[in-house]
Amino acid sequence: MGFSALVCACVLALCGADAFTLPQRNEPDNDRPIIGILTQEVDDYMRKFGETYIPSSYVKYIESGGARVVPIRLNQSFAEHEKIFRSINGLLLIGGSVNLETSDFARTAGIYFRLALNANDEGDYFPIWGTCLGFQLLTVLVAGENLLSKTTAENVTYPLNFTAEASPSRMFTNFPSDIRKALSQEPLTANFHHYGVTKEAFLGNEKLSGFFSVLSTNIAQNGFEFVSTVEGRKYPFYGVQWHPEVNRFQWDPHYNFPHSRNAVHVSSLLAEFFVNEGRRSSHHFREAAEESSALIYNYSPVYVANISAYEQSYFF
Ligand SMILES: *[C@@H]1O[C@H](CO)[C@@H](O)[C@H](O)[C@H]1NC(C)=O
Ligand SMILES: *[C@@H]1O[C@H](CO)[C@@H](O)[C@H](O)[C@H]1NC(C)=O
Ligand SMILES: *[C@@H]1O[C@H](CO)[C@@H](O)[C@H](O)[C@H]1NC(C)=O
Ligand SMILES: *[C@@H]1O[C@H](CO)[C@@H](O)[C@H](O)[C@H]1NC(C)=O
Repeated sequence: MGFSALVCACVLALCGADAFTLPQRNEPDNDRPIIGILTQEVDDYMRKFGETYIPSSYVKYIESGGARVVPIRLNQSFAEHEKIFRSINGLLLIGGSVNLETSDFARTAGIYFRLALNANDEGDYFPIWGTCLGFQLLTVLVAGENLLSKTTAENVTYPLNFTAEASPSRMFTNFPSDIRKALSQEPLTANFHHYGVTKEAFLGNEKLSGFFSVLSTNIAQNGFEFVSTVEGRKYPFYGVQWHPEVNRFQWDPHYNFPHSRNAVHVSSLLAEFFVNEGRRSSHHFREAAEESSALIYNYSPVYVANISAYEQSYFF
């Protein structure tokens, strides 16, 4: 399999670029993509640094895919969020531990979720990615109810159990066959969750199963099978119950963070995939000065490796 794939690649290269052209869109790619990352309430002892935060690992993850990051503060007016939405090319919902229905994080994510649904309906491409809690939140927003149950997988790494829908998916399209294989056989995904949506609950809910394709599942420590990777059938919305960012950007030896070559490669491919989705959005800031002052470069991360599982974190 690996060998024949290699041979195919060589044949393609020899045929030259003229024979094979990728499908073209009408508009050129946006080569200066900006991804918004929604800040989240600090709910622990790190409160002394600020009310809200974004761990640096998520910022580096997006930057490594070739985009710039704009942190999005909670508690702004709808008009302000709408203005930010028109200025950014995608949204990342981070992991964490806030309430999926009542937190400011959940409420604000809902604003962007609805704006993105409408935009995509009108042909204005806008991708959203949810990691861990961010993915759980997407399921609540799509289903209109909380379908989570106990599916503990804490500090454990798994290979993905791919479904039949993984193979034709957009998310894994550009994965070389050896990396797809590694992802299905080696423990390259880090899990840090107590709740999730079981396969049964997911497929049993028409709103969820109609909205998302389930690309992979895993068996939790309590024996339940939970949905671990999804992508929107119609919308460019993506979710992972695991943490691709830790593979390259978190190093606390007390945790099971996969750092093998393949683990790093998977993390890179997914970061690039999501940023490439953002390239399809032509949203932009009205003025250069407004863009400059919104970017994450205006903030300095704080060293938190001695008090948390993160190396650094931004506080707002
Ligand atoms: C947002 O507003 C609520 C209520 O108005 C307040 O309790 C909360 O602390 C605010 N959160 C942030 C992050 O400013
Ligand atoms: C994958 O699925 C099989 C069959 O259901 C199960 O035995 C195995 O534990 C699963 N692997 C993981 C890593 O969840
Ligand atoms: C995480 O798992 C690793 C490897 O199994 C173990 O050595 C470590 O103690 C665990 N950490 C925590 C915080 O439970
Ligand atoms: C953690 O490191 C920072 C920066 O070196 C230091 O100021 C702080 O006192 C340390 N905190 C603890 C609990 O060791």
